[in-house]
Amino acid sequence: MEYVEKRVAQEAAKGAEATNSLFTPLNLMLLSLFLYTVYSFVKPQAPAALPKEEPAVVFKTFTPRTLLPFNGENNMPVYLAVRGRVFDVTRGRNFYGPGGPYANFAGRDASRGLACGSFDEEMLTKDLGGPLDTLADLGRDELEALQGWEERFSEKYLVVGKLVAEEKE
Ligand code: HEM
Repeated sequence: MEYVEKRVAQEAAKGAEATNSLFTPLNLMLLSLFLYTVYSFVKPQAPAALPKEEPAVVFKTFTPRTLLPFNGENNMPVYLAVRGRVFDVTRGRNFYGPGGPYANFAGRDASRGLACGSFDEEMLTKDLGGPLDTLADLGRDELEALQGWEERFSEKYLVVGKLVAEEKE
């Protein structure tokens, strides 16, 4: 009888050992991984945020005079014109904004200056009420350089309008 009791006690101890061995560090890690995976499937998803709508671009007609205030001063955007197309270069405010290296082009027809690689005052249309610069006297290299700039601007900036000469009464 004593033998039977001893065996029963032995078997009970074995069972406890088996239960203990379930809680090994590895099993606990696997369990937490499993619970985490389940949780990540079940947890409520944050509603997908809609992308912010870009402000609508209103295509406008500018003359050299009405383009002038768009030079980045007084919190104005920065525009410049190249061969009749007005680009919003506000993103490039560091280049064209007040104090920037190319601020001379802000609010102006920059075609001649870009073509000739010059910041000289005479590159800019002097008579804001007069005809636009036809660039008729420029050579091939200059026109090619200008086209290069235009391509760069088209990739980087939005066209917000066209530049025309002021109408004469
Ligand atoms: C000493 C000569 C010059 C140096 C060291 C210089 C330097 C630079 C640098 C570092 C950039 C920035 C490029 C980028 O991050 O995309 C740049 C852009 C530019 N440069 Fe110059 N530059 C010089 C002459 C000129 C000249 C002569 C012109 C035209 C008259 C010019 C017009 C521009 C324009 C329009 C941009 C593009 C800005 C934009 O992406 O909106 N640069 N220049």
